[in-house]
Amino acid sequence: MNIQEIIAKKRDKLELSKEEIEYFITNYTNGKIADYQAAALVMAIYINGMSDEETTNLTLSMAHSGDILDLSELGTVVDKHSTGGIGDKVTLILAPIISSFDIPVAKMSGRGLGYTGGTIDKLESIPGYKTNLTIQEFIQNVKKNGISVISQTLNLAPADKKLYALRDTISATESIPLISSSIMSKKIAAGANKIVLDVTCGSGAFMKNLKQAESLAKMMKKIGDLANKQTVCIITNMDEPLGKAVGNSLEVIEAVEFLKGKMEQDVKEVILELGSYMIKLAGKGENIEENKQKILENIANGKAYEKFKNWISSQGGDVNFLENVQNFKKAKYITPVVAQKNGYVTSLNAQKVGEISMNLGAGRIQKEDTISPEVGIILEKKIGAEVQKGEILAYIYANNEELANKQAKNLEEVYEIQENKPKLKKNILEIIA
Ligand code: URA
Repeated sequence: MNIQEIIAKKRDKLELSKEEIEYFITNYTNGKIADYQAAALVMAIYINGMSDEETTNLTLSMAHSGDILDLSELGTVVDKHSTGGIGDKVTLILAPIISSFDIPVAKMSGRGLGYTGGTIDKLESIPGYKTNLTIQEFIQNVKKNGISVISQTLNLAPADKKLYALRDTISATESIPLISSSIMSKKIAAGANKIVLDVTCGSGAFMKNLKQAESLAKMMKKIGDLANKQTVCIITNMDEPLGKAVGNSLEVIEAVEFLKGKMEQDVKEVILELGSYMIKLAGKGENIEENKQKILENIANGKAYEKFKNWISSQGGDVNFLENVQNFKKAKYITPVVAQKNGYVTSLNAQKVGEISMNLGAGRIQKEDTISPEVGIILEKKIGAEVQKGEILAYIYANNEELANKQAKNLEEVYEIQENKPKLKKNILEIIA
C-alpha cells in the first residue's frame, strides 16, 4: 500500500478501504506522509466525497490516533458540541444548568480560530480560571463538584489537529465527511457516553442551508450511534449571532445575566432544547417539554447560577467578577453604531459580525495570536427589529479609537435595513433524535 495509490483511488472517485484509511491516518499522524500528499487526498475527498462507511472508518481511525479518555467512573456523561457559531455562549450557560440536575459535566472545549469563538477563551476572561488541569484533576473536580470544563490538554485525536489545520490552509473546510469525522473523532476520544450536537445553519455556520445541515447532522448521528454513543442533533439558526454579545468577557457577562433570569429569546430557545435532550439522554427525564420547565425552574430558584459560581471557583476563577460584572476590565472605547434610515433589520450576517469581532482582537487570525478578552460587540438590534434613523443598533468595544471607528462603519454596513418587516426564521430548525 502507498499513499500515491490511495490518492489516485480517491481522485478517480473510488471507495477507500478501512485499511487504506487507517494507513493514511497512522502515517500522516506520525509524519511519514507529507503535508502535500495529505493535502492532495483531502482535496480529493472534498471534491469527490465519501460513502458513509468510508466516513465512519475515517472517524474511527482519527479517534484512535491518540488517547481515548475513559470517563466510565463518572457514570453517564452527556457531552455537547456545536459545529461553530458567533456569540455562541451556550456551553457557559448549559454546563451549570445540566450540573444542577446532578448530571456529571466533564467537558473539553476549544479555543476560537478565525471568525468563530471558543469556550476556553471565554472562560479565561474570568480572572484566575484555570483551563489546563491534568486529567486526574479534571476527573477529581467532576467527582467533587459535578462539573469541570478544561481545554484539550490530552493527546486526543491528534490526526484531527493536523488535518484541521491543513484543511484551513487549502480551503477544504466545508465538507460533510471531513467535518463529521473531525467532530465525531474528538467526541469519541473525549469519553462521553452520549452526545447532543448543536448543528448550526446559516451565514455564520459551515452549513449555509438546511439541506446541508441535515446531511451533516444525519452523518454525525449515524457515526455516534455506530460507535455506541447515542447521539441527538439539533439544527439551530446561525444566520445572525446568538444573543446580544460577541466577544469573550462580554459573552461571559451575558451568560451570568442569563443564569440570573435575564434571557435573550434566541439563546433561551437553544438552551432549553439542547438542555432538555441532554437531561433525557442522561436518563433524568423522558418528556422534553417537562424538562424545559425543569430547566426554567432551576434558573428561577438560583440553583443553576449557584452551580455556575461553584464551578468557576473550583477552577480558580474569581467569583467576584460574576457577582459584580462591572468589575470586568472594560474596553477603552465604546462606540455606537447608528441606523442611517428608518425600517426593519432584515439581515445581520453572522460571519461578518464574527470577522469584525476578530478584527477588534476578540479572536485570532493566526493560531498564535493573543486575544483581548474585553473587546467585541453588543448587538442592541437584531433581525426583525424596527429601527428609527439615528437609533443605536450596536456598540463596538475596542481598545483603539481608529479601529473602533473603522469597525463601527463596517458593522453599520452589515446591518441591512429595509422598509418591510422580514419573515423571521425559527431558532430551532430541526431535531434529529
Ligand atoms: N469543528 C470541528 O471540530 N471540525 C470541523 O471540521 C468543523 C467544526
